[in-house]
Order: sequence, then C-alpha cells, then structure tokens
Amino acid sequence: MQKILVSGGAGFIGSHTVLELLSAGYKVIVFDNLSNSNRESLERVQKLSGRTIEFHKIDLLDKESLGKLFRDQRFDAVIHFAGLKAVGESVEKPLLYYQNNVAGTLNLCECMIEAGLKQLVFSSSATVYGDPESSPIPEENPLKAVNPYGATKLIIENILRDLYQSDPEWKIALLRYFNPVGAHESGEIGEDPNGIPNNLMPFVTQVAVGQREKLRVFGNDYPTKDGTGVRDYIHVKDLAKGHLKALEKISGEKGLHVYNLGTGSGSSVIEVINAFEKATGLKIPYEITERRPGDAATCFADVSKAKRELGWSTEKDLYDMCRDAWNWQQKNPDGYPH
Ligand code: NAD
Ligand code: UFG
Repeated sequence: MQKILVSGGAGFIGSHTVLELLSAGYKVIVFDNLSNSNRESLERVQKLSGRTIEFHKIDLLDKESLGKLFRDQRFDAVIHFAGLKAVGESVEKPLLYYQNNVAGTLNLCECMIEAGLKQLVFSSSATVYGDPESSPIPEENPLKAVNPYGATKLIIENILRDLYQSDPEWKIALLRYFNPVGAHESGEIGEDPNGIPNNLMPFVTQVAVGQREKLRVFGNDYPTKDGTGVRDYIHVKDLAKGHLKALEKISGEKGLHVYNLGTGSGSSVIEVINAFEKATGLKIPYEITERRPGDAATCFADVSKAKRELGWSTEKDLYDMCRDAWNWQQKNPDGYPH
C-alpha cells in the first residue's frame, strides 16, 4: 500500500483529497499546523471513509519536527497543500506569506532530499497567470505575480523547476487550480473560512443561511457576457480526484509536469447567483458595487493537457457545486465546531 504524506491535509482541498486517497486504498499521513483549519475535518474524513488517518500537528517552519517525521517513516510521495492563501492579507503581511509559503516549502524539500524522497505534488494556482490577456489559458501562458500571495506560488514553482533541473530524478506535478468550490456530497466536510469570506461561493452560502444581509457584486461593467467577472469554478471533489491522477502520472514518469485543473468554462457572478437560486430554491439578495481592485475580468482554463496526459476531466457542474456548498453550509451553519 502506497504511503502518501499530505501537508495541510486538514484544510478545505486537503481534507477532500485525503478522503479520495483513502477511498482509493492509499495510506495517508497528514501534517498541518491547524492555523487555518480544524482537527474535526479529519475526524469526519475518518468517519466517511471508515479508515484511520495518522495526524501530526507540525508547522512547515519547524524543521526539527518535520525532519523527525521523515526520519521515523518512509513515504512514497508528498502532496503539499500547506500554505496561507488570502490575497488581501498577503498584501498587508507580505513577509508572513514569503516566510510561511516559500521558506516552509524549502524546509519540506530539504527534508525530502534528506529522506531520499523525490515525488511531489504541489498546489499552485491560476493566480500565476496574473491578469490574463485572454481565456482559455493554456499552461504555456506567460506567468506573472500580481500580489505577494501570487508571488509565493510563482517563486515556489520556480524553486521546484530549478530543483528538477539540478536532479532529473525528481517527479514533480505543479497543479494550477482555478476556483475550487462546493463540498463533499455528504455535507460532512466543506470550506470553513475565517471571518468574512473573500471568495464568492462562501459569501453566497452565508447570505443564504442568513449570516450576511446581501452579496455585493464587484462590478458589472467588465467586457463579459453580463458585465460581471467570469471564473472557472471547479467542484472540490473533481479537484481532489485530479491529485490522484497526478500522483499516478508522476509515479510512472520523471520530470516536472504542469497542469491546469479547472472545468475549462467560465461562469459570471450573475450565473453563479442564478445557479445557486435554482439549486436551492432560495433568493440571494445582491447589489452591484464598485469593481474590486486587482480583479481580472475573465479567467478560465484550457484543460486539454490534463485531459490528454492525466485522463482527467471534471464531472460536476455549477449546479452540483451550488447544491453541495449549500448542503454543507446548512448542516454546519458555523463551520466546524471550535
Ligand atoms: P486551507 O487554508 O483550507 O488549507 C491549507 C492548510 O495548510 C490549512 O489546514 C492550514 O492550517 C495549513 N497550513 C498553513 N500554513 C501551514 C504551515 N506553516 N505548516 C503547516 N500547515 C500549514 O486552503 P485550501 O483552500 O485547502 O488550499 C490548499 C492549497 O491550495 C493552498 O496552498 C492554496 O494556496 C492552494 N490554492 C487554493 C485555492 C482556493 O481557492 N482555495 C486556489 C488555488 C490554490
Ligand atoms: N466576487 C463578488 N463578490 C464577492 C466576492 C467575489 O462579486 O463578495 C466576484 C469577484 O469579483 C470575481 C468572482 O466573484 O469576479 C470570483 O471571486 P473570488 O474571490 O471567489 O475568486 P478570485 O478568482 O478573485 O480569486 C481566486 C482565489 C485567489 C486566487 C485567484 C486566482 O481566491 O486566491 O482565484 O487563481 F489568487
């Protein structure tokens, strides 16, 4: 049985991926400092899967403890989710982001080298495309950081590329996620943002559950179908499955492989609201406000490479994403119990 070490596995995408890994028969070891997550997510994954997860509360920056984890047992691969991800916070606290995400990843890579382990799947982001000139965006598009969070992803991608150049034994997948939303269909695990959500879907579900009065739609004068921003929303379960395909790919092939993970089609904010209303039978009150600084008009993926090389494509549509996000929110109006 292959043993996979998952960093940040208690978080939103990590917990869903851990569940898919367990269902596929992998043994999973998670470490997380729980700075943006809750141990309860993994308890629930254990219940859903009927399998146990070995958990270690370790910070990426604590190289002593991380090194010990790698000395105590052998892993077949690492999936690296751990990182801070709030764009606004990264502008206010850039050093925190560089320290946590970049220095943390350096520690992880050093521990892997000491342990002789060279298989890594990394959570990158569509943010590395900056403000894209056109969509769909292929992997070869020029890359650009437009905020410190995005810079950390770009720097880490470059570090991993250099690492592969230095030692072609490495097997690395850089997965560029578009906009992950939704939740497991059980409603037991989902996205549990701290404070006021920055992202559209959790804001919509919090309006629906009565925690927020109305949604603000950031601008309706973009050059898009209805003037509102267009994004490639991807169901977190489809995204989780993409990680298993990436693991399979790299286990059989050395190299540095880059994949967009999205649906390949864009939805506007108004389309998300309409889909949510249709999926739930609820009305989402909203007002149009100013554009949010730094937002692109349109961003969606060219997913042909992932389809061709990984044999992966999404199965769930916007309706499923809205239904499942709402199911999770309804069952857990305040997120995981703290
Ligand atoms: P999340 O915050 O739910 O999960 C990240 C996890 O990493 C959390 O459990 C957090 O406690 C942990 N963590 C953070 N810093 C750590 C550290 N120093 N040591 C140990 N653990 C640490 O976020 P998510 O949405 O699940 O995102 C997972 C990854 O995917 C992140 O790297 C994120 O940047 C990336 N990503 C997310 C999105 C998105 O919209 N959700 C889009 C593109 C890329
Ligand atoms: N939006 C609103 N109102 C809100 C929140 C968002 O109208 O309250 C709009 C935005 O203007 C945008 C769309 O909904 O048009 C999606 O916004 P999100 O914040 O959900 O997602 P973004 O695409 O802006 O950002 C996400 C991640 C970032 C990442 C970026 C690029 O949150 O971390 O994708 O990959 F950098």
